[in-house]
Amino acid sequence: MGGSNPYIDDVQAELPTEKYTVTYVAGDTGEERTVEVDPAKFPYGHDGLPGSILDIALGAGIDIDHACGGVCACSTCHVHVEAGLESCSESTEDEEDMLDLAPGLTGQSRLSCQCIPNGKVPVRVVIPEWNRNLASEEH
Ligand code: FES
Repeated sequence: MGGSNPYIDDVQAELPTEKYTVTYVAGDTGEERTVEVDPAKFPYGHDGLPGSILDIALGAGIDIDHACGGVCACSTCHVHVEAGLESCSESTEDEEDMLDLAPGLTGQSRLSCQCIPNGKVPVRVVIPEWNRNLASEEH
C-alpha cells in the first residue's frame, strides 16, 4: 500500500535542504541507530510522506509498523519524538484523531508517516516497545 489519502488534510511541511541526522531508539532494548538523512534522496521509499520519520526509517532498513501504508489511517506508526520535535511539521487534526487511538500517548507522540522534520536540528525518536521491529532490522 502507500500513496496519499484523499480524505485527510495536506501536511504543511518545510522540507530540509541540508543533511541532518535522525537517531532511532528501540523503546524496549535501548538499542540506537543514527541515520544520516540526505534530502536529495527523498522519497526513500513508498510509504509515508516523503521525508517523514517513517520514510527515513524504511530507507535505512528500520522497520516501524505502518499498517495503513503511511496514509494517516491507523496509529501503528506511533513514535515519541524525544528531541527535535520543534523542527517537525505540525500535526494535522487528522493525525491527532488517529493518535488518540494509540497506546502510550505522550506530549512527544507523533505518527511517523506524517511527521516531517525540517532538518535544522538532529532528531531523536523512540520507537515504543510494542513496536518491536527495530530489533529484527539488519545492520
Ligand atoms: S502508517 Fe498508518 S497512520 Fe502512519
